[in-house]
Amino acid sequence: MADLNHPLDDPSADPFAIAAEAASDIRRLTGVDRHDIAVTLGSGWGKAAELIGETVATIPATEVTGFSKPALEGHVGTLRSIVTPSGKNVLVIGARTHYYEGHGVRRVVHSVRTAAATGASTMVLTNGAGGVRETWTPGQPVLISDHINLTADSPLEGATFIDLTDLYSARLRDLARTIDPSLDEGVYTQFRGPHYETPAEVQMAKRIGGDIVGMSTALEAIAAREAGMEILGFSLITNLAAGIQTTPLSHAEVIEAGQAAEPVISSLLARVIGAL
Ligand code: HPA
Repeated sequence: MADLNHPLDDPSADPFAIAAEAASDIRRLTGVDRHDIAVTLGSGWGKAAELIGETVATIPATEVTGFSKPALEGHVGTLRSIVTPSGKNVLVIGARTHYYEGHGVRRVVHSVRTAAATGASTMVLTNGAGGVRETWTPGQPVLISDHINLTADSPLEGATFIDLTDLYSARLRDLARTIDPSLDEGVYTQFRGPHYETPAEVQMAKRIGGDIVGMSTALEAIAAREAGMEILGFSLITNLAAGIQTTPLSHAEVIEAGQAAEPVISSLLARVIGAL
């Protein structure tokens, strides 16, 4: 679904130059020269924005070069600049483009590349996802320890060989556990979506080492690593994955679980960001 009016859909365009332009839009619109940390808020994590610190500016993502309109209710299309009590500038990205929207991986990772271009050296990625482990319960946040990318795609273009060892920083996971020692962790498995997995696919994910199933974070993490950022990933388990829970999955259930867990996990996320 190429859109000739969209700068990232021109195959000859340089996605990093477009990210640099987006970062300069953010500088101009927020008045903040440099961000230290960026955080993408997935389903269930939205309330964290209010708890991280004092909001300096909120801007519609559509005013920033290369950002696409939000595809979905529950995915807020804003960028927000917040200053933490310790004086760090946090760029909160409430505008995620998913791979399943079919606009290509350049658009999916544009927010991450833009965050890096604003100066951010830490990327916090959050999402709502399905739990493969029977012991987990909906509403529980877990750390992402690693990922399996089943999209058969990559944000890297050409012969760009990037090391993905310790992609989800062990140091930052340890730091998160100093805030909440009960945090469990697992391997995030990204499927293309937008359909949920079949029970057989969930069993496959389990056998190859997946603990979490979702549709967003792996491609973003690869781009963040390419940009040299240190990455912290959190999944909110909104449901047990298909076949692990016996009832059918629904988007409404995912949104509801997110809303129910929101106060607790948002406060956790804000405290972790405060400690970064
Ligand atoms: N699978 C994939 N993505 C999801 C799920 C799931 O079970 N729940 C929320 N996002």
